[in-house]
Amino acid sequence: MFDRTDAHITTWAIAIILFFVALGLHRAGNAKAMKIVHMILRLFYILIIVTGALLFWKHQGIDPALYGVKGLVGIWVIAMFEIILVRLNKGKSTKVASILLVIALLIVLYLGFKLPLGINFLA
Ligand code: HEM
Repeated sequence: MFDRTDAHITTWAIAIILFFVALGLHRAGNAKAMKIVHMILRLFYILIIVTGALLFWKHQGIDPALYGVKGLVGIWVIAMFEIILVRLNKGKSTKVASILLVIALLIVLYLGFKLPLGINFLA
């Protein structure tokens, strides 16, 4: 948990899948199932933050600034997941939030894979 990134990767990978499942259920008009998937996704927000924070506290000394940015952009991704699903339910436009989600996701994946722990194909 503190030295390996597997648990963190598992939590955000499942969250991305749940986010798209929720989008699909919304499109299919299945509001009840979407609500359930959304609640499970919210649980995964907590798991992503906990696993990320455990890695952060132990290793941020390697590069505090970059680890700090990594954590903040990770929270930004979670915020965009939440904003998009809530706005869909309210029938509001999700265009800007979707663009911001793609940008945040690209940055967080880049930083995550660049930082020294775990997979480092960008190093
Ligand atoms: C959906 C949101 C997030 C995504 C997609 C994401 C993605 C990633 C990726 C791709 C890695 C690299 C894994 C590896 O190299 O094996 C990583 C590592 C890490 N993440 Fe996240 N993350 C997210 C949220 C967070 C949050 C909220 C925090 C802080 C609270 C955080 C802190 C970290 C730390 C400290 C590492 C280790 C960096 C290193 O490789 O040295 N992440 N994350």
